[in-house]
Amino acid sequence: MALNIVIMAAGKGTRMKSATPKVLHKLAGRSLLAHVLKSCEPLAAQARIVITGHGADQVEAAVQATDLAFVRQMPQLGTGHAIQQVVPALQGEGTTLILNGDVPLIETATAKALIDACAGHALVLLTVDLADPTGYGRIIRDPDDDGVLAIVEHKDATPEQRLIHEGYSGMMAAPTGALKRWVGQLSNDNAQGEYYLTDIVAMAVAEGLPVLGIKAHSEIEVLGVNDPVQLAQLERAFQARQAEHLMRAGVRLADPARFDLRGTLTHGQDVEIDVNCVFEGQVELGDGVRVGANCVIRNARIAAGARIHEFTHIDGEAAGASIGEGALIGPFARLRPGAQLGAEVHIGNFVEVKNSTLAKGAKANHLAYLGDATVGERVNYGAGAITANYDGANKHRTTIADDVHVGSNCVLVAPVTLGKGATIGGGSTITKDVNPGDLAVARGKQVALPGWTRPTKKR
Ligand code: UD1
Ligand code: CA
Repeated sequence: MALNIVIMAAGKGTRMKSATPKVLHKLAGRSLLAHVLKSCEPLAAQARIVITGHGADQVEAAVQATDLAFVRQMPQLGTGHAIQQVVPALQGEGTTLILNGDVPLIETATAKALIDACAGHALVLLTVDLADPTGYGRIIRDPDDDGVLAIVEHKDATPEQRLIHEGYSGMMAAPTGALKRWVGQLSNDNAQGEYYLTDIVAMAVAEGLPVLGIKAHSEIEVLGVNDPVQLAQLERAFQARQAEHLMRAGVRLADPARFDLRGTLTHGQDVEIDVNCVFEGQVELGDGVRVGANCVIRNARIAAGARIHEFTHIDGEAAGASIGEGALIGPFARLRPGAQLGAEVHIGNFVEVKNSTLAKGAKANHLAYLGDATVGERVNYGAGAITANYDGANKHRTTIADDVHVGSNCVLVAPVTLGKGATIGGGSTITKDVNPGDLAVARGKQVALPGWTRPTKKR
């Protein structure tokens, strides 16, 4: 039976007070709309249609996918009007699942339960018992058999109806043929002057079609985002769920309330993560990895036994970054795309590494820059040493063979090669290759400037 999935995302989201369309605001690193799309991906729909309106160009560009269709709703005259716009795009006589682009945490299993209960002939509503149902459409049930009779919007509800705590989540599964017919009959004769999709419930009841209300298991999966407060609440709820999942899998989080994962974290055993760490993209932590407080780690692989000390920033971007077994990184280290560190490498405070390979046991412990460099085993790279890898137009490589010692405050002007076991005297500016085992010292002459006086403060 054909399944259509329609995601309503045309609304303005005025209370976000943002130029970004509401459904593009991020939750755990992914847009609200992308969360919805992800949860309905496994449902094997014939068609997935997103209704856009406010910020349509931006929304459509942000979630492009070959199997997605977009239908524009201009202007936005209500949820029923939104569905009227997709009628020509709905395929077959099966089931149409309607989701909200701003209700991000709907679970695949719940969506599937709606579709199964509909089976192409019943109207199935996802409802939720709410402590405070203000603003929600109320589910009106038959006092005799508990069957759903109608949804009454909050603004149209009588004081008695407002006492009902069962609200409509905004998500439903409907028989496609009947849905098309019903939305053609909607009127906007109501408190908001809108075409309410929820009016189809009374139509289904009048036709004698089965109408079912399925209650959501958790409130989280039906909560919508209308303002920054709700966005932050859902973010915390989502993070708490991820944190719990990781802890149950054995990861020791110092405080699950101070943990953020915006992507995927895979891990071995005995992993420990201190407070206030943020993981983004794809991150892999091997057995026994320890991450100190206040680290940000994005797109990186960290091998077994490595220690990431406090305040370290690792961003592999598209190229990725990798850290070898038993390596010690930080505190205050910065690893950038293409940093590939071997086993037992030490990267200390205020050291930046970009697009560079460091072999086993190489050390750069203080205040240094390694960019576009290949560094051999056991190299000691002194404080203040810099690869001058950029000539203003092109990047060049620096090659440092095994066992080289680079003294403090050296500038290695690329392209340049330092042979195995060479020593570079502190303060040298190296522009020519150094032979293996040689000591190279290249410093400017000390210059005295007679008659110079120290500037004094202007008053
Ligand atoms: C709607 C339901 C209400 C339910 C609530 C749950 C109706 C009439 N009411 O309320 O019963 O309790 O959701 O959150 O359906 N949208 C469009 N085009 C429009 C209007 C809205 O695409 O013209 C989209 C919005 O972007 C949003 C969704 O539809 O994703 C719901 O719109 P919203 O205005 O938040 O819902 P309410 O009308 O408040
Ligand atoms: Ca509305």
